[in-house]
Amino acid sequence: MSKIKTAYFCQSCGYESTKWVGKCPSCQQWNSFVEELIQKDQKKNSLQEWKSYYQEGEVRKTLPLHEVQAQKVPRIITKDHELNRVLGGGIVQGSIILVAGEPGIGKSTLFLQIGLEIKNEKVLYISGEESNQQIKMRADRLGLKNENFYLLTETSTQIIFQEIKKLRPSLIIVDSIQTLASPLIDSSPGSVSQIRECAAELQDFAKETNTPVFLIGHITKDGSIAGPKVLEHMVDTVLQFEGDRHYVYRILRTLKNRFGSTAELGIYQMGDTGMSPVLNPSEILITQKEEQLSGTAIAATIEGQRPLLIEVQALVTQSVYGTPQRTVSGFDLRRLQLLLAVLEKRGGFHFGVKDVFLNLAGGIKVEDPSIDLAVLCALLSSFEDVPLPQDLCFAGEIGLSGEIRAVNRVEQRIAEAEKLGFQKIIVSKYNQKSMAKQGFNIEVVTMGRVDELYRHLF
Ligand code: TYD
Ligand code: MG
Repeated sequence: MSKIKTAYFCQSCGYESTKWVGKCPSCQQWNSFVEELIQKDQKKNSLQEWKSYYQEGEVRKTLPLHEVQAQKVPRIITKDHELNRVLGGGIVQGSIILVAGEPGIGKSTLFLQIGLEIKNEKVLYISGEESNQQIKMRADRLGLKNENFYLLTETSTQIIFQEIKKLRPSLIIVDSIQTLASPLIDSSPGSVSQIRECAAELQDFAKETNTPVFLIGHITKDGSIAGPKVLEHMVDTVLQFEGDRHYVYRILRTLKNRFGSTAELGIYQMGDTGMSPVLNPSEILITQKEEQLSGTAIAATIEGQRPLLIEVQALVTQSVYGTPQRTVSGFDLRRLQLLLAVLEKRGGFHFGVKDVFLNLAGGIKVEDPSIDLAVLCALLSSFEDVPLPQDLCFAGEIGLSGEIRAVNRVEQRIAEAEKLGFQKIIVSKYNQKSMAKQGFNIEVVTMGRVDELYRHLF
């Protein structure tokens, strides 16, 4: 019996230390170190035994790059076009994909559905969170049947690999990586060392057998992939599943992809019978209304590769307390403060005595800075209590000196606005050059400064 070995791990980034420290030297988090039992070497040999999977791994040796044969990576094309696109054209054989999202957002639902829809491949769904009964009930709710779909409710990787060896599935979904435990490590499931070890075993498996593996992982409220954060560099692809639980829309975003672009995104709608892809997101994110109200503006943004028109709503009211409130949903609070400062300094608007509330329709979070212009116009519209024309939309970034800066792929934005029946779009005058020859039916107004825009609108 060997001596019990322990080490301290940072729960936020996985940094390992032999003694306890108050502040992580790697990610600068305070108070994040927890002692975990590790006892790896002793059982290493037993791992080697049951790790001989389907075939012998190929012999590795040094090679000149030009001798490496370029091969087209085989992919499994699923019925879910959003997932295919987000992954860069289907699931790559032998890839390991981390799917992160907050609890209750619909990860299990989405991947059960995707697994059940792959009819011609053997899919194994490993659940450490739910019983067979629960999963069956959910599958019934989704209304999907599949003879090639197998369930395994187990948390020990040793047993999981034994079952895998018997079944030989061609796709594996693990729900969730935090519930797995490897017998090689003594610390409890969900701890950094367990997560890392289990993922490493599954990664070895994926590479050796060319089987794609999905790892579902929970993230904490502050958005970091707690625990699974340590996996980000190990896996081939990191997908983030996000959205507001109180709304029906969910976004699947690529944070990292070794086999495709990271600028991709899929939009889903959560219904009574599972997730369905949203084909025309812009139409849904703009609320159709009869009367004109102040404080709303439409932004022509691009999320991933897709143009997306989003409604921005602002409410500016007289502040009752000494410190004015700033509340945002779907938008960065600091960005809002910056825009307010620009308006205060460059336009002379006294937002310092006003409460400001900002909301993006549909519970969607936008990262594209081109939404600035619409946010600014929504703020001004509410400040002045003057509604903006309904057939007007905006695309532009705001600089610190109050200039309207150019945005990328402006034609795509204009085309989307035109498609949805907008009559006029305001963009930066610095975009003019890049779109000189385009003939649009929609009126394209270019502007250089915020004060110019104010005079134009109000
Ligand atoms: P779930 O997939 O369990 O979330 P996660 O795995 O990310 O924790 O989904 C949780 C919610 O989804 C649950 O509150 C019920 C809801 N739901 C639907 O709205 N429609 C459905 O068809 C299903 C199966 C679930
Ligand atoms: Mg789940």
